Amino acid sequence: MDFEDIETVAVLGAGNMGHGIAEVAALAGYQVQMRDIKEEFVQDGYDNIEWSLNKLAEKDQLTQQEADEALGRVTALVDVEDAVSDADVVIEAVPEKMVIKKDVYTDVEKYAKDDAIFATNTSSLSITELSEVTERPEQFCGMHFFNPPVRMQLVEVISGEYTADETLDTIEELAEAFDKTPVRVRKDSPGFIVNRILVPLMNEACWLVHDDVATIEEVDSTTKFDIGLPMGSFELSDQVGNDVGLHVLEYMHEMLGDAYEPCPLLERKVDSEELGKKTGKGFYDYD
Ligand code: CAA
Repeated sequence: MDFEDIETVAVLGAGNMGHGIAEVAALAGYQVQMRDIKEEFVQDGYDNIEWSLNKLAEKDQLTQQEADEALGRVTALVDVEDAVSDADVVIEAVPEKMVIKKDVYTDVEKYAKDDAIFATNTSSLSITELSEVTERPEQFCGMHFFNPPVRMQLVEVISGEYTADETLDTIEELAEAFDKTPVRVRKDSPGFIVNRILVPLMNEACWLVHDDVATIEEVDSTTKFDIGLPMGSFELSDQVGNDVGLHVLEYMHEMLGDAYEPCPLLERKVDSEELGKKTGKGFYDYD
C-alpha cells in the first residue's frame, strides 16, 4: 500500500487510545471506521471525539466547521467486516493483552483487503509475535501513539522481524499526515523506547510511596519541578490508565526480568478498579 492511496483508516477499539487515534485520522481528512465490540463502547468513543473536537474549537485550535467536518468523517461500528473491508490501513488499539490482540487479528485477516497494512498501537507487546498470526507479516508494524493522541506529538513506528521497509515508510508518511512526528524503532523489544523509560519511572514512584519514603504529592512535585516532566508520575499513571501501565510492566517483567517487578501499590489500584481519569479515581480523584 502506497501512502498516496490511503483513503480509509479503520481503528479497532474506541477506548482512550482508539477514539483519540480515530480523531487524529479524521482531523487529517481520512474516512475513519471506528469499531468496538459493543454499541455502548463505540458510542462512548464517538462522544469523546465530539467532546474533544468541541474543546479544541472552543480554544480556537480549529474552527467549529473543521470540528464538525472531522466528526462527520467518523463512522462508529460494531461489525468487524463492515469496519475493515474497505480500509487501506487498520490501526488496532484493543486491550493490551496478547491473546485479545491475536484473536482480533485472526478475525480481521478474514475481511481486510490483501494490500491493507495492519498497524498495532500496542504499548509493549512483540510486533513479530502479533504479525505471525496474520498472513501479511511484511505488511505489519507498530504505530504507537501517546495519551492523549490529539495532544501528543510523538508516534513510535516499530519494525517487527518481517516488516518490509515500504510498510514502515508508508506508516511514517501517514504519521506525518496526521501532523505527528514519527520515530522509527528498528528492533522489536518490550516497551520499545518510550515505555521502556516511562513505565519503570511510574513503577519506581509507586515503590517510593510503598516503601514509605515519600507521599504521592511529594513524589509528583519532584517529577514535575526537578525531572521536568509536564505531569507528576502519579498524574501520568492516572492519565495513561493504571491498568495499561500494569499490563506493560507485567510483560516487561516476564520478558526482561526482575528490575520490572510491578509494585503492589499499582496492583492494588488496578484490583480495586481505580484505573485513573477514565474511572474518575486513581491515585487522585477526578469527580
Ligand atoms: N482533547 C481536547 N482537549 C483536551 C484533551 C483532549 N483529548 N485532554 C485534555 N484536554 C483539555 C483539558 O480538558 C483542559 O481543558 P481546560 O483548560 O478547559 O480545563 C486542557 O486540555 C488542558 O490543557 P493545557 O494545555 O492547559 O494543559 P497542559 O499544558 O498541561 O497539557 C497535556 C496537557 C498535553 C496532557 C500535558 O499535561 C502533557 O503533555 N502531559 C504528559 C502526557 C504524556 O506524557 N503522555 C504519554 C503517556 S505514555 C503513553 O501514553 C504510552 C503508553 O503506551 C502507556
